[in-house]
Amino acid sequence: MHKDFVTIADYTPAELQALLDRAIALKVEQKARGNPPLLQNKVLGMVFQKPSLRTRVSFEVGMLQLGGEALYLSPNEIKLGERESVPDVARVLARYVDLIMARVFRHQDIEQLAQWAGVPVINGLSDYAHPCQALGDFQTILEHKGRLEGLKLTYIGDANNVYNSLLFAATKLGTHITLAAPSGYRPDAAVLELARGFAAQSGSQIAIMDDPVQAVQGADVVYTDVWTSMGQEAEQEARLQAFQRYQVNEALVAQAQPDVIVLHCLPAHRGQEITDRVMDGPHAAVFDQAENRMHAQKAIMVTLMGV
Ligand code: CP
Ligand code: NVA
Repeated sequence: MHKDFVTIADYTPAELQALLDRAIALKVEQKARGNPPLLQNKVLGMVFQKPSLRTRVSFEVGMLQLGGEALYLSPNEIKLGERESVPDVARVLARYVDLIMARVFRHQDIEQLAQWAGVPVINGLSDYAHPCQALGDFQTILEHKGRLEGLKLTYIGDANNVYNSLLFAATKLGTHITLAAPSGYRPDAAVLELARGFAAQSGSQIAIMDDPVQAVQGADVVYTDVWTSMGQEAEQEARLQAFQRYQVNEALVAQAQPDVIVLHCLPAHRGQEITDRVMDGPHAAVFDQAENRMHAQKAIMVTLMGV
Protein backbone atom coordinates (compact mmCIF):
# COMPACT_ATOMS: atom_id res chain seq x y z
CA MET A 1 0.00 0.00 0.00
CA HIS A 2 1.32 3.43 -0.97
CA LYS A 3 1.37 6.50 1.24
CA ASP A 4 1.38 8.95 -1.68
CA PHE A 5 0.31 9.42 -5.32
CA VAL A 6 3.24 11.30 -6.82
CA THR A 7 3.86 9.56 -10.15
CA ILE A 8 2.18 6.75 -12.09
CA ALA A 9 5.62 5.13 -12.35
CA ASP A 10 5.41 4.12 -8.64
CA TYR A 11 2.26 2.04 -9.16
CA THR A 12 2.03 -1.50 -10.52
CA PRO A 13 -0.33 -2.34 -13.39
CA ALA A 14 -2.59 -4.20 -10.92
CA GLU A 15 -2.71 -1.19 -8.59
CA LEU A 16 -3.55 1.12 -11.48
CA GLN A 17 -6.25 -1.26 -12.67
CA ALA A 18 -7.69 -1.34 -9.13
CA LEU A 19 -7.79 2.49 -9.07
CA LEU A 20 -9.57 2.53 -12.45
CA ASP A 21 -12.11 -0.07 -11.26
CA ARG A 22 -12.72 1.93 -8.08
CA ALA A 23 -13.12 5.19 -10.06
CA ILE A 24 -15.73 3.61 -12.32
CA ALA A 25 -17.58 2.07 -9.35
CA LEU A 26 -17.60 5.41 -7.48
CA LYS A 27 -18.89 7.16 -10.61
CA VAL A 28 -21.75 4.68 -11.10
CA GLU A 29 -22.62 4.87 -7.40
CA GLN A 30 -22.55 8.67 -7.31
CA LYS A 31 -24.88 8.89 -10.30
CA ALA A 32 -27.27 6.24 -8.93
CA ARG A 33 -27.66 7.25 -5.28
CA GLY A 34 -24.67 9.34 -4.23
CA ASN A 35 -21.51 8.06 -2.57
CA PRO A 36 -21.54 7.11 1.12
CA PRO A 37 -19.51 9.42 3.42
CA LEU A 38 -16.30 7.40 3.13
CA LEU A 39 -14.17 10.42 4.06
CA GLN A 40 -16.38 11.89 6.78
CA ASN A 41 -14.50 14.27 9.09
CA LYS A 42 -11.47 14.15 6.78
CA VAL A 43 -9.92 17.36 5.48
CA LEU A 44 -7.93 17.72 2.27
CA GLY A 45 -5.43 20.62 2.12
CA MET A 46 -4.97 21.86 -1.47
CA VAL A 47 -1.77 23.80 -2.12
CA PHE A 48 -1.60 25.67 -5.45
CA GLN A 49 1.42 27.42 -6.95
CA LYS A 50 -0.39 27.76 -10.31
CA PRO A 51 -3.94 28.48 -11.51
CA SER A 52 -6.54 25.72 -11.92
CA LEU A 53 -10.15 25.07 -12.82
CA ARG A 54 -10.50 21.28 -13.04
CA THR A 55 -8.03 20.23 -10.35
CA ARG A 56 -9.37 22.60 -7.73
CA VAL A 57 -13.07 22.05 -8.37
CA SER A 58 -12.89 18.28 -8.94
CA PHE A 59 -10.93 17.69 -5.72
CA GLU A 60 -13.14 20.03 -3.72
CA VAL A 61 -16.46 18.65 -4.98
CA GLY A 62 -15.14 15.08 -4.85
CA MET A 63 -14.23 15.56 -1.19
CA LEU A 64 -17.66 17.09 -0.41
CA GLN A 65 -19.45 14.17 -2.10
CA LEU A 66 -17.47 11.76 0.09
CA GLY A 67 -18.50 13.60 3.25
CA GLY A 68 -15.19 15.41 3.81
CA GLU A 69 -13.96 18.96 3.36
CA ALA A 70 -11.31 20.62 1.23
CA LEU A 71 -9.27 23.71 2.00
CA TYR A 72 -8.05 25.85 -0.90
CA LEU A 73 -4.65 27.47 -0.34
CA SER A 74 -3.95 29.91 -3.17
CA PRO A 75 -0.55 30.64 -4.75
CA ASN A 76 -0.33 33.74 -2.53
CA GLU A 77 -1.10 31.92 0.68
CA ILE A 78 1.81 29.64 1.47
CA LYS A 79 4.50 30.65 -1.01
CA LEU A 80 5.98 27.17 -0.85
CA GLY A 81 9.76 27.26 -0.38
CA GLU A 82 9.73 31.05 -0.31
CA ARG A 83 7.91 32.20 2.82
CA GLU A 84 8.64 28.86 4.45
CA SER A 85 10.66 25.79 3.51
CA VAL A 86 8.92 22.82 1.89
CA PRO A 87 9.71 20.42 4.79
CA ASP A 88 8.32 22.94 7.31
CA VAL A 89 5.13 23.45 5.29
CA ALA A 90 4.73 19.67 5.00
CA ARG A 91 5.11 19.07 8.72
CA VAL A 92 2.80 21.94 9.72
CA LEU A 93 0.04 21.05 7.25
CA ALA A 94 0.15 17.39 8.28
CA ARG A 95 -0.75 18.43 11.85
CA TYR A 96 -4.05 19.92 10.59
CA VAL A 97 -5.19 17.98 7.54
CA ASP A 98 -5.62 14.30 6.69
CA LEU A 99 -4.49 14.52 3.05
CA ILE A 100 -2.49 17.01 0.98
CA MET A 101 -2.85 17.74 -2.74
CA ALA A 102 -0.31 20.12 -4.26
CA ARG A 103 0.22 21.73 -7.66
CA VAL A 104 3.81 22.92 -7.93
CA PHE A 105 6.43 24.12 -10.37
CA ARG A 106 9.29 21.83 -9.33
CA HIS A 107 8.62 18.10 -9.06
CA GLN A 108 11.21 17.92 -6.26
CA ASP A 109 8.85 20.00 -4.14
CA ILE A 110 6.14 17.35 -4.42
CA GLU A 111 8.68 14.67 -3.54
CA GLN A 112 9.82 16.70 -0.54
CA LEU A 113 6.26 17.30 0.61
CA ALA A 114 5.64 13.56 0.41
CA GLN A 115 8.85 12.84 2.28
CA TRP A 116 8.14 15.23 5.16
CA ALA A 117 4.34 15.12 5.52
CA GLY A 118 3.08 12.38 7.79
CA VAL A 119 -0.09 12.24 5.69
CA PRO A 120 -0.66 11.16 2.06
CA VAL A 121 0.42 13.62 -0.64
CA ILE A 122 -1.18 13.72 -4.10
CA ASN A 123 0.52 15.35 -7.09
CA GLY A 124 -1.95 17.79 -8.66
CA LEU A 125 0.58 18.63 -11.42
CA SER A 126 4.30 19.35 -11.39
CA ASP A 127 6.70 20.23 -14.21
CA TYR A 128 7.39 16.47 -14.54
CA ALA A 129 4.06 14.73 -14.11
CA HIS A 130 0.27 15.02 -13.95
CA PRO A 131 -0.70 11.58 -12.64
CA CYS A 132 -4.32 12.41 -11.65
CA GLN A 133 -4.87 13.54 -15.22
CA ALA A 134 -3.51 10.30 -16.68
CA LEU A 135 -5.68 8.18 -14.38
CA GLY A 136 -8.84 10.09 -15.38
CA ASP A 137 -7.76 9.85 -19.03
CA PHE A 138 -7.32 6.07 -18.92
CA GLN A 139 -10.70 5.79 -17.20
CA THR A 140 -12.16 7.76 -20.13
CA ILE A 141 -10.44 5.54 -22.70
CA LEU A 142 -11.63 2.40 -20.90
CA GLU A 143 -15.21 3.69 -20.77
CA HIS A 144 -15.23 4.60 -24.47
CA LYS A 145 -13.28 1.63 -25.83
CA GLY A 146 -14.01 -1.14 -23.31
CA ARG A 147 -10.32 -2.06 -23.07
CA LEU A 148 -6.83 -0.56 -22.83
CA GLU A 149 -4.52 -3.35 -23.94
CA GLY A 150 -3.47 -3.21 -27.58
CA LEU A 151 -5.06 0.18 -28.30
CA LYS A 152 -3.00 2.87 -30.03
CA LEU A 153 -2.81 6.27 -28.34
CA THR A 154 -1.18 9.03 -30.40
CA TYR A 155 -0.03 12.17 -28.62
CA ILE A 156 0.58 15.22 -30.82
CA GLY A 157 2.74 18.00 -29.40
CA ASP A 158 5.01 18.77 -26.48
CA ALA A 159 6.39 15.85 -24.45
CA ASN A 160 5.44 17.65 -21.23
CA ASN A 161 4.17 16.64 -17.78
CA VAL A 162 0.89 15.35 -19.24
CA TYR A 163 2.71 13.25 -21.86
CA ASN A 164 5.08 11.79 -19.25
CA SER A 165 2.19 10.55 -17.11
CA LEU A 166 0.31 9.18 -20.15
CA LEU A 167 3.51 7.40 -21.23
CA PHE A 168 3.86 5.75 -17.82
CA ALA A 169 0.17 4.76 -17.69
CA ALA A 170 0.18 3.43 -21.27
CA THR A 171 3.32 1.36 -20.82
CA LYS A 172 2.07 -0.04 -17.49
CA LEU A 173 -1.36 -0.93 -18.92
CA GLY A 174 -0.36 -2.35 -22.32
CA THR A 175 -1.51 0.56 -24.51
CA HIS A 176 0.72 1.43 -27.48
CA ILE A 177 1.80 5.07 -27.43
CA THR A 178 3.12 7.15 -30.31
CA LEU A 179 4.41 10.69 -30.00
CA ALA A 180 4.68 13.21 -32.84
CA ALA A 181 6.84 16.14 -31.75
CA PRO A 182 9.57 18.30 -33.23
CA SER A 183 13.10 17.59 -32.06
CA GLY A 184 13.86 19.51 -28.89
CA TYR A 185 10.39 18.78 -27.48
CA ARG A 186 10.75 15.05 -26.98
CA PRO A 187 10.88 13.05 -23.73
CA ASP A 188 13.89 13.04 -21.43
CA ALA A 189 16.15 10.02 -21.68
CA ALA A 190 15.38 9.06 -18.07
CA VAL A 191 11.62 9.15 -18.66
CA LEU A 192 11.96 6.98 -21.76
CA GLU A 193 14.21 4.50 -20.03
CA LEU A 194 11.66 4.05 -17.23
CA ALA A 195 8.82 3.67 -19.73
CA ARG A 196 10.77 1.15 -21.82
CA GLY A 197 11.16 -0.98 -18.70
CA PHE A 198 7.38 -0.92 -18.11
CA ALA A 199 6.69 -1.63 -21.79
CA ALA A 200 8.94 -4.69 -21.71
CA GLN A 201 6.60 -6.13 -19.05
CA SER A 202 3.26 -5.13 -20.63
CA GLY A 203 4.02 -5.56 -24.33
CA SER A 204 3.13 -1.96 -25.16
CA GLN A 205 5.06 -0.28 -27.98
CA ILE A 206 6.56 3.20 -27.74
CA ALA A 207 7.11 5.22 -30.94
CA ILE A 208 8.47 8.74 -31.38
CA MET A 209 8.41 10.56 -34.70
CA ASP A 210 8.37 13.90 -36.39
CA ASP A 211 5.36 13.58 -38.68
CA PRO A 212 1.88 13.97 -37.09
CA VAL A 213 0.14 12.43 -40.16
CA GLN A 214 2.23 9.28 -39.91
CA ALA A 215 1.72 9.20 -36.13
CA VAL A 216 -2.10 9.18 -36.22
CA GLN A 217 -2.44 6.28 -38.69
CA GLY A 218 -4.58 3.64 -36.98
CA ALA A 219 -4.88 5.64 -33.75
CA ASP A 220 -7.76 4.73 -31.40
CA VAL A 221 -7.08 7.81 -29.27
CA VAL A 222 -5.59 11.14 -30.35
CA TYR A 223 -4.39 13.34 -27.50
CA THR A 224 -3.01 16.84 -27.42
CA ASP A 225 -2.14 19.53 -24.85
CA VAL A 226 -1.03 23.16 -24.93
CA TRP A 227 2.29 23.92 -26.60
CA THR A 228 3.37 26.21 -23.76
CA SER A 229 2.80 24.89 -20.26
CA MET A 230 2.44 26.97 -17.11
CA GLY A 231 5.88 28.29 -16.20
CA GLN A 232 7.19 28.25 -19.82
CA GLU A 233 5.64 31.56 -20.88
CA ALA A 234 9.04 33.06 -21.84
CA GLU A 235 9.37 30.36 -24.56
CA GLN A 236 5.95 31.01 -26.05
CA GLU A 237 7.10 32.56 -29.35
CA ALA A 238 9.64 29.84 -30.08
CA ARG A 239 7.08 27.17 -29.22
CA LEU A 240 4.41 28.68 -31.47
CA GLN A 241 6.89 28.41 -34.32
CA ALA A 242 8.10 24.90 -33.47
CA PHE A 243 4.59 23.41 -33.19
CA GLN A 244 2.98 25.02 -36.29
CA ARG A 245 2.59 21.62 -38.01
CA TYR A 246 1.26 19.90 -34.91
CA GLN A 247 -2.34 21.10 -34.80
CA VAL A 248 -5.07 18.52 -34.18
CA ASN A 249 -7.60 19.51 -36.85
CA GLU A 250 -10.27 17.64 -38.81
CA ALA A 251 -7.86 16.66 -41.60
CA LEU A 252 -5.51 15.04 -39.09
CA VAL A 253 -8.28 13.29 -37.15
CA ALA A 254 -9.62 11.87 -40.45
CA GLN A 255 -6.36 9.89 -40.76
CA ALA A 256 -7.00 7.97 -37.51
CA GLN A 257 -9.46 5.08 -36.88
CA PRO A 258 -13.06 5.99 -37.84
CA ASP A 259 -14.12 5.62 -34.18
CA VAL A 260 -11.14 7.55 -32.78
CA ILE A 261 -11.69 9.58 -29.62
CA VAL A 262 -9.89 12.90 -29.20
CA LEU A 263 -8.69 13.91 -25.76
CA HIS A 264 -7.21 17.12 -24.33
CA CYS A 265 -6.49 17.63 -20.63
CA LEU A 266 -7.73 21.25 -20.92
CA PRO A 267 -7.51 24.21 -20.76
CA ALA A 268 -7.33 24.24 -24.59
CA HIS A 269 -5.90 27.00 -26.71
CA ARG A 270 -8.48 26.70 -29.47
CA GLY A 271 -6.99 27.56 -32.85
CA GLN A 272 -3.49 26.53 -31.74
CA GLU A 273 -2.99 22.87 -30.74
CA ILE A 274 -6.65 21.99 -31.48
CA THR A 275 -9.38 23.50 -33.64
CA ASP A 276 -12.94 24.41 -32.61
CA ARG A 277 -14.30 21.86 -35.08
CA VAL A 278 -12.42 19.02 -33.38
CA MET A 279 -13.09 20.24 -29.83
CA ASP A 280 -16.80 20.54 -30.59
CA GLY A 281 -16.95 17.65 -33.08
CA PRO A 282 -18.20 14.05 -32.83
CA HIS A 283 -14.87 12.48 -31.83
CA ALA A 284 -14.08 14.71 -28.85
CA ALA A 285 -14.45 13.18 -25.39
CA VAL A 286 -12.83 16.09 -23.57
CA PHE A 287 -15.70 16.88 -21.20
CA ASP A 288 -16.12 13.23 -20.17
CA GLN A 289 -12.41 13.38 -19.56
CA ALA A 290 -12.73 16.52 -17.40
CA GLU A 291 -15.55 14.89 -15.40
CA ASN A 292 -13.52 11.72 -14.84
CA ARG A 293 -10.84 13.69 -13.02
CA MET A 294 -13.25 13.81 -10.09
CA HIS A 295 -14.07 10.11 -10.08
CA ALA A 296 -10.43 9.09 -10.52
CA GLN A 297 -9.31 11.40 -7.69
CA LYS A 298 -12.02 10.04 -5.39
CA ALA A 299 -10.55 6.59 -6.05
CA ILE A 300 -7.05 7.87 -5.24
CA MET A 301 -8.18 9.56 -2.01
CA VAL A 302 -10.17 6.61 -0.61
CA THR A 303 -7.38 4.21 -1.54
CA LEU A 304 -4.70 6.32 0.16
CA MET A 305 -6.93 6.70 3.24
CA GLY A 306 -7.40 2.92 3.32
CA VAL A 307 -11.19 2.94 2.94
N1 CP B 1 -6.36 19.58 -16.65
C1 CP B 1 -6.15 20.31 -15.56
O1 CP B 1 -5.37 19.96 -14.67
O2 CP B 1 -6.86 21.48 -15.50
P1 CP B 1 -6.64 22.68 -14.47
O3 CP B 1 -5.30 23.29 -14.78
O4 CP B 1 -7.77 23.63 -14.74
O5 CP B 1 -6.69 22.14 -13.08
N1 NVA C 1 0.85 20.89 -19.62
C1 NVA C 1 -0.08 21.84 -19.02
C2 NVA C 1 -1.21 21.12 -18.37
C3 NVA C 1 -2.23 21.99 -17.72
C4 NVA C 1 -3.32 21.22 -17.01
C5 NVA C 1 0.67 22.72 -18.03
O1 NVA C 1 1.51 22.21 -17.29
O2 NVA C 1 0.43 23.93 -18.02
